[in-house]
Amino acid sequence: MDLIRAQERMLTHPAHAQVLGNPDYAFGAAFVADHFCPILEASIPIIDAGLFHADAVYDVVSVSGGAFFRLEEHQARFARACAAIRVRNPFDREKEAEILHELVARAGLRDAYVWWTVTRGLPPMGRNEMVDPLKFENRFYAMAVPFVFMFDDDQRARGVDLVVSRDHIRIPARAVDPRAKNFHWLDMQMALFEAGDRGGEWAVLTDADGYLAEATGANIFAIVDGTVVTPDSGCLEGITRQSVMDLCQELGIPTACRRIHADELKTAQEVFMTTTAGSIMPARSVDGKPVFGHGGAGELSVRLHNLYWEKRWAGWHATPVRYDLAKQEHQP
Ligand SMILES: Cc1ncc(COP(=O)(O)O)c(C=O)c1O
Repeated sequence: MDLIRAQERMLTHPAHAQVLGNPDYAFGAAFVADHFCPILEASIPIIDAGLFHADAVYDVVSVSGGAFFRLEEHQARFARACAAIRVRNPFDREKEAEILHELVARAGLRDAYVWWTVTRGLPPMGRNEMVDPLKFENRFYAMAVPFVFMFDDDQRARGVDLVVSRDHIRIPARAVDPRAKNFHWLDMQMALFEAGDRGGEWAVLTDADGYLAEATGANIFAIVDGTVVTPDSGCLEGITRQSVMDLCQELGIPTACRRIHADELKTAQEVFMTTTAGSIMPARSVDGKPVFGHGGAGELSVRLHNLYWEKRWAGWHATPVRYDLAKQEHQP
């Protein structure tokens, strides 16, 4: 089965053509605290704790063919993340959704990467006030830019080369809980550089005992004895990960969330990663060794990839973008 060239389709198919919008927003749209602006004009105060302490939670939802995917679930996960790190979202869920819709509408995008965050924001100026989360002025920022693929069509079709990091482990959940999607990225970024140094294209991280946690910015899956398995802890509960579970159920393929030692990747039938910015990404090698001797994208990985996109474009968990919101801008 050939992998659907989703990126090519987004660039060429009329259903994905950009909506005629305001040219100021050609590179994307941003929302900064309380107002919309073209993405190149967006800025944040240098004293924002999101910047100087990576003190923030965020989420990313995608739009394809003019519709959000699992928007409510992304918003629910984001609300849990805010609660976990004790920041207050200045907007309720309805207003938050409206901002995300309007960003996509202003940018005129049919396929978008939509990112939003609440940072700890502006710190209190008084003595000893840092102990009180209520003393910070939490800030909301968001943006919509053209959809980003972590790996392009060719890479997904041939499978990517993964490296399991030896030098870095994923931060333990008791230090920074990976379920609250957050700005702590150094472990994953350093592992990515290590992967590059070792001739790979992407990194996978384990916990201190060698059990898989997640990949850089993505969940990791393996197919072991016909069962699609993914780690049950130490990782973000990815929305794409959940989508894979749902697709497997539909196809009658057994799944399990469990502890997986990194060594299991050596004998797995297939290996793939999942993330919003790239969907399902088959791997062809792990640490320089072809996955299960086939050395290409696995058959089931490609099937899941294709089903994911076909179902999305047919309206699966879709919320159509409210393009009419962009018009408000031109009203007197
Ligand atoms: C650390 C991490 N794990 C997993 C994922 C995948 O999550 P989702 O499928 O919800 O995009 C992401 C997405 O950015 C991530 O940053």
